[in-house]
Amino acid sequence: MFRVLENDEIAPKVHRMVVEAPRIARARQPGQFVIIHCGPQSERIPLTIADARNGTITLFIQAVGDGTREIVSIPAGGDIRDIAGPLGSATHIKAWGRVVCVGGGVGTAVLYPLAKALADGGNDVTTIIGGRSAPFIILRDELAAFSKEVLVTTEDGSMGTKGFVTTELRRLMDDPARRPSAVFAVGPVPMMSAVAEMTRPDGIETIVSLNPIMVDGTGMCGGCRVSVEGEIKFACVDGPEFDAHKVDFRELQSRQNTYKEACCRASAASSPAA
Ligand code: NAD
Ligand code: FES
Repeated sequence: MFRVLENDEIAPKVHRMVVEAPRIARARQPGQFVIIHCGPQSERIPLTIADARNGTITLFIQAVGDGTREIVSIPAGGDIRDIAGPLGSATHIKAWGRVVCVGGGVGTAVLYPLAKALADGGNDVTTIIGGRSAPFIILRDELAAFSKEVLVTTEDGSMGTKGFVTTELRRLMDDPARRPSAVFAVGPVPMMSAVAEMTRPDGIETIVSLNPIMVDGTGMCGGCRVSVEGEIKFACVDGPEFDAHKVDFRELQSRQNTYKEACCRASAASSPAA
């Protein structure tokens, strides 16, 4: 059992949970994730470890389906039955110099530990975070603590620049004094694909963190497979970070859509209104 110490809704349907997990907290490295399993009938949900300190891990969860809703319904003082991890490979940190970290929506929570590790590794980090509107902008102050600047975009213009994260990335790339040597991007698949296409012509090294459907998290089930430069990779053991210019985003999106449709059908079938 893992005791939930804090559970706060920090944006619409996005919860920040602090959970007691001393062994995972000790072993965890930036970029790694855990798989949560609340009970025998529950889904297994992969979640990035956003932070680890004093025997606790911090997780950000967007409550979008039955599995994630079950997790966020556990109040402070309650227990999570099973947490496996840390899983996946740690972020490979190099001294790139100027790095731009791009976070889309709840993907910003996954970006946070990567950006922090890059800054701790001596890189000059500029962060771009985007959301539909102001309430969906998360971790701005936390990222500002180690970023040279944090640029915010919202689709309705209610905070920062009106537009997508790529609006600000384009601006940085066009400014010789702020042009990055590397870009890290985490968020919805269309966002990561758009970032990859923006940096590809200039050959700017670009790394994305992928979150395909995962089941076992150990490379056995094949659920999380992605094509990288024509080769099959498993995000849970070979990733979750990959060279964005080598990822087949079209296939990844199509696999995500298949699961989304199956999930919608299952929810509709189990809904009392159906
Ligand atoms: P969202 O759809 O509200 O998008 C957030 C921001 O991403 C937008 O405001 C915009 O700035 C940017 N964006 C979206 N589409 C874009 C495009 N085509 N071009 C350029 N920029 C674009 O995001 P949300 O609802 O907060 O997040 C949900 C999505 O994020 C889900 O698809 C989920 O799977 C994904 N996600 C990914 C990770 C990961 O590790 N990669 C982690 C958590 C969530
Ligand atoms: Fe099963 Fe990755 S989750 S192979």
